[in-house]
Parts: sequence; structure tokens; C-alpha cells
Amino acid sequence: MEKTLILIKPNAIQRGLIGDIVTRFERKGLRFVGMKMLFMTDEIVNEHYAHLKNRPFFPYLKASMQAAPIIACCIEGAEAVDTVRLLVGATNSRKALPGTIRGDFSMSGEQNVVHASDSVENALIEIDRFFAPGELFDYESAVTRFEYGGEESQKFM
Ligand code: PPS
Repeated sequence: MEKTLILIKPNAIQRGLIGDIVTRFERKGLRFVGMKMLFMTDEIVNEHYAHLKNRPFFPYLKASMQAAPIIACCIEGAEAVDTVRLLVGATNSRKALPGTIRGDFSMSGEQNVVHASDSVENALIEIDRFFAPGELFDYESAVTRFEYGGEESQKFM
């Protein structure tokens, strides 16, 4: 099954949104297979946002990601990367559709509640950045056959 990474950002931790955010993914039928709270060090922020280091807003983004701990989550499901991006919504939360996490919980492009991997390739890199192999869990689901059709099970599992 495809895996992706989300970061529940410091602004969401401060605002008490952890439960709401986790619930959105669980209700959809996505499974949490790894979860950890940590402070993002200079090294991790610089690596994670290396592609943005020359953007004028980088210092603000960096400060916002170090303002409190984050929660890194590895989430699994059929086409998890694209499905999670749809649930999260547009980067600028003011443009994110109602019903998406950013559309419902944020007014900002910086304080936008969650980060989500933008491709399967980047998801693999980002999962490795935050989780050692032993920190991800491969467990049997009791409800998969009620979440996916037979053809989908053949294709995605
Ligand atoms: S995206 O989602 O990668 O396509 O969007 P992008 O515009 O490239 O933004 C990437 C991350 O940069 C953050 N961002 C900002 N932070 C502070 N100030 C401004 N103006 C700003 N614009 C974009 C945005 O929240 C994205 O963070 P992540 O953690 O990847 O969601």
C-alpha cells in the first residue's frame, strides 16, 4: 500500500487541532502506521525545505516550524499521496476549499496546519527523514475488505 508523510505543524499543536486533523484522515479510511512528536532542528528544517531556501519567506517558514513541536505521521492507503493532498487542500488556506483541512482550519499560507508530501518519490524521501524502519508498523487491518472493493484490493495491496 502507498505511504505518505504529513507533519502536523506547530500552529496546529498550539491551537489544539491534533485530534481534528487525525480524525479527518482516519474517517477517510487512511491508516496511521507511524507517529512521533519532535522539535525540528535547524538541520531537519534546512533539509526538509531545501528547495525553498532562497525564497524570501524562508526565514518566516523556518521560524514557524520551530515555534513548538511537530507531529510527524506516516499514513497508508491506496493512492495515499494524492488522496492526502486532496484532503489537506491548497497551500494558501484562504484559497483552500471548504471541507479540506486547510479550508476549514486555517486562514494562512504559512500557518497552514499541515504539510503533506507532494509526490510518491518525495514521500519516500520524507518518510525516511522522520522515521527509522523500526518506527513504522505493518499490521493487519480488520476492515480493509469493507473499505476497498475486490478489484481495488488486487490493484493496490
Ligand atoms: S506547495 O504546497 O509545495 O506546492 O506550495 P509552495 O507554494 O511551494 O509552498 C511550500 C511551502 O512553503 C510554505 N509557504 C510559505 N511560508 C511562509 N510564508 C509564505 N509566504 C509562504 N508561502 C508558502 C507553505 O506553507 C509550504 O509549506 P509546506 O510545509 O510544504 O506545506
